[in-house]
Formats: sequence, C-alpha cells, structure tokens
Amino acid sequence: MVLNKFSKKSMSKALDYLIEVRGEAILPYFKFLKEAGKNLDVKTRDLISVITKVDKQTEKGLKQYLNRALHDGCTANEIIDALLLAFPTLGLTKIIWAIEIILAMKIPDFNPEILGQKPQWNEICSTNEIKDGEVMYMTIGLRNLFIYRNKDSYKVFDSRCPHRSEDIKPEALEGLKLTCPRHKWEFNMSTGECTANNHGLRTFEIKIENNVLFGFW
Ligand code: FES
Repeated sequence: MVLNKFSKKSMSKALDYLIEVRGEAILPYFKFLKEAGKNLDVKTRDLISVITKVDKQTEKGLKQYLNRALHDGCTANEIIDALLLAFPTLGLTKIIWAIEIILAMKIPDFNPEILGQKPQWNEICSTNEIKDGEVMYMTIGLRNLFIYRNKDSYKVFDSRCPHRSEDIKPEALEGLKLTCPRHKWEFNMSTGECTANNHGLRTFEIKIENNVLFGFW
C-alpha cells in the first residue's frame, strides 16, 4: 500500500482510494498545496480556502473549511469580510449562496447578536460543578459546550463537529469518547483530538477566577 502520512488527513474514501492506487500522482498534489501557502499564516490560508470553495460552489468543502477557519481563530466577521473582498471574482450570487449555507448551519458566531460583539470572557460555571475525570455538557448563551476536567486542569470544547459542523449532542458521549452521529468521527475528550485525523474539536481559551470557569469567545 502507498498510504502514508497524507492518508491520515484525507477527507473521503475516494481520496483514500486514489492515494492507494495512484499515490505517485496524488501525493505530489498534496505536497504542492502545502508548499504553495507556506509563507502565509494559517488564518490567511483558511480564508483563501473558504473563498475557493465558494468560487467552486462546493457545499461540503465550504462547510469543512469554514469550520477549519473558525477552529484556527478566524472570526465570523473576518470570514464575511473575506467573502465581500472577493466580490470581484465571486459576484453577489455566489456570496449569497455561501451566506445561505452558513445561515443554515446555525453557527452561533454568525448570529447577528454575537457578530456585533468583540470576543469576551463568558462565565461558564463553578468549578465545583464539574466532576474530576468526566465530561460535562452545557449550554451557555447560544453555544453548546463539552467541558472536561482533569484535577485542576479544564478544557472547554465547542459541540460543533470540525468536519461539517454537526451540533453533537451529549447522547454521543461514552465516557471520554465522543462520536459524531453524521460520519462517525471520534474525539478523545481529554484532548479534543479526532482519532482519525488531525481536525480536533474547537477549543476555547479558559481562565478560572474565584472557582468560576470562564471561556473566551
Ligand atoms: S459532520 Fe461529519 S463526522 Fe461530524
């Protein structure tokens, strides 16, 4: 088999298949993509990827790269700016197409209420409410969160799957394993990492003050 480090990141059975049977042709393409953007920071690369998916009007690709952009720290406002800046090539029709998909995804970041706000610290709960070694599910404002505690260390994850933004419910949790119901990506909830690839859950910055856990978004 020709499978190597690239196969771990691939998103579809079709790509896995091509890597296996025509690795010599496909793998240089991945290398090209990696090398082509090596002088850009990760957020800029993500925004360009979002634009290319909108230009090609691939819904799956848009959802995937939109999630990746948010995961890597792009704000919803930055994504909207990037779409509008690309107006000369996208035109209004493709921008509207993208916005309709984004709205249907119901990502809290794009809610007009949140869009107008600067990211800030949000109170989540008292640390006493979170059992050591367990994962808790909570809704804070418009966000659904999974919170993991390991003694004095805490992690706060967005409930949205990094693949196509499924809002994963607490029923999908088995101990420290979370399985997205749509395409069965599994996440280790002590780290948020996906067991199948390197696209983990979005993790929010946290702080603790007077035994109260806060998340930054
Ligand atoms: S949306 Fe595809 S695995 Fe979660």
